[in-house]
Amino acid sequence: MWTTEQLLAEAVGGRVGRRFVGMDEIDGMEADALKRAAEQALARPQASEFDPGARPLSRRLLAAQWTLVLDSVGLPAEPRVLELCAGGSDPVVVALDVLYGSRATYATINLNRKLAAELMDRARGLDLQVRLIEDDAQNLLTHFPRGSFDAVCFHHAVNDILQTAVAAKHGLDTRDLDWWPNERQMIEWMAVEHEAHGLSEVGLPELRAILESAATAVKPGGTLCFDHWTWHYHLGLDWFPGALFNQLIPMAREVALSLTTPLVEVTPAGLDRQWWMVLRKP
Ligand SMILES: C[S@@+](CC[C@H](N)C(=O)[O-])C[C@H]1O[C@@H](n2cnc3c(N)ncnc32)[C@H](O)[C@@H]1O
Repeated sequence: MWTTEQLLAEAVGGRVGRRFVGMDEIDGMEADALKRAAEQALARPQASEFDPGARPLSRRLLAAQWTLVLDSVGLPAEPRVLELCAGGSDPVVVALDVLYGSRATYATINLNRKLAAELMDRARGLDLQVRLIEDDAQNLLTHFPRGSFDAVCFHHAVNDILQTAVAAKHGLDTRDLDWWPNERQMIEWMAVEHEAHGLSEVGLPELRAILESAATAVKPGGTLCFDHWTWHYHLGLDWFPGALFNQLIPMAREVALSLTTPLVEVTPAGLDRQWWMVLRKP
């Protein structure tokens, strides 16, 4: 699907790179350092987030990956795209802006207010038409009728859906809190629930409800696109359920391919199906 060189060319100097000029230190990096940092950022599990440049470069490379994936799924000239659980992360927003600018309509449903505000801040000044809805993604069909979208994107969102559902069960309302200082607690609860019942009592029911709604909200011929990955660093932490996190796309695949709306897997050749999944509604 792509090489490190292709992604780097998009992310630095290319279509995606142009969106980030002056926003980070990447454009001043030497070619060798860039290649080294890109290899770290693209390794799965991700090799490190501490090499200078790896974090902002990772943001650009994610946008480059989503640009190439969304370009490959055959969207119409004026696509309508929904992203669930974007938080403050912008690779799908940047990809759509790069590919379609003001011709694309982007909507996101998100619970955490601070992260949603970050996303809106990042999207300011782009041509893309952006709409934010503050709600639980399980209520998606109360906002959009059946067949509203050409694509629904889940960028590193499967864990977010599971964590949020588990947090709610433990009495933590994730709308107004600072996400990052609370994330470890959410993940620890998720590990406990996974150990107890494989997330069948909480986590998987919410994921199924969201995927079922997403499959209804996408048009026939439309796609559902997912990515996920883990960091090598996290896998070494004694509280982190690495085996579970390494299997979140396969877990989502099992749910997605058993919905009442049938979906067909069309993940492009060359993408690792442990970390990517593209489904089409026939
Ligand atoms: C940490 S952010 C992650 C952003 C992005 N997915 C990423 O990994 O880069 C998690 C976001 O998912 C949102 N989220 C999780 N479950 C949700 C649900 N059921 N409905 C709406 N938003 C949800 C949270 O509110 C939060 O804003």
